[in-house]
Amino acid sequence: MKNTHPLTKTYSFPTIAPSILAADYTRLGAEITSCTDAGISWIHCDVMDGHFVPNISYGPLIVEAARRAAPEAFLDVHLMIYNPGLYLSSFAKAGANLISVHPEADPHIHRTLGAIKELGLYCGVAINPGTPLTQIEELLPEIDLVCVMSVNPGFGGQKFIPSALQKIQRLIMWRKEMGLDFLIEIDGGVGLNNVQQVSQAGTDVLVAGSSVFGAQDRAERLQKLFQKAIIGSSDFA
Ligand code: DX5
Ligand code: ZN
Repeated sequence: MKNTHPLTKTYSFPTIAPSILAADYTRLGAEITSCTDAGISWIHCDVMDGHFVPNISYGPLIVEAARRAAPEAFLDVHLMIYNPGLYLSSFAKAGANLISVHPEADPHIHRTLGAIKELGLYCGVAINPGTPLTQIEELLPEIDLVCVMSVNPGFGGQKFIPSALQKIQRLIMWRKEMGLDFLIEIDGGVGLNNVQQVSQAGTDVLVAGSSVFGAQDRAERLQKLFQKAIIGSSDFA
């Protein structure tokens, strides 16, 4: 069943969302335009605080640079930080279109999601591999996207955790039963070897970092990922 979320009027799904965590930061602008020139419209920005996850990545400055490099792109900002509510307006000002936050990092996530919407942005929840879906059940009617982590957050280039696919299938069932239209995103360890299977599970947004930025021929890799995602989605029941 095709998703009816308002974003489906502007973007076609499934879509490949390069995670710039894996980009070469000596030439970030060119790295981003190598994706947008190849037809990418959705860019995933991983913000890490070194506390919620054992790594520090970047803050609003890099999101703002991504916005300057790709004025038309949809910037999907994934906050892997404690107390995300303190930083929402900085990321909104930097040019985010959507902000996802972790329930594991924010006891007041319902309030935080409301604050993201107050800023006029789309909002999402991202859940770690060990977090049960029941922890976000009450939030589903409030959100635009669920980001299902298929790695333990903090680093790119990790191995895909297959149990994420069962979560995707349960979310699709819940979405239908509850008459909702949130998008489903998968994040971590997605590459040529599993993109078709991930898409076949019914995923709308497929984040790929090292698979995209590790490729010599960027356009060719993005094309292959996209083609396999389309084949997978046509098999999606
Ligand atoms: C991990 C991040 C992911 C990661 C994806 O904490 O949330 O977005 O950058 O990178 P790959 O595709 O290399 O696993
Ligand atoms: Zn991410």
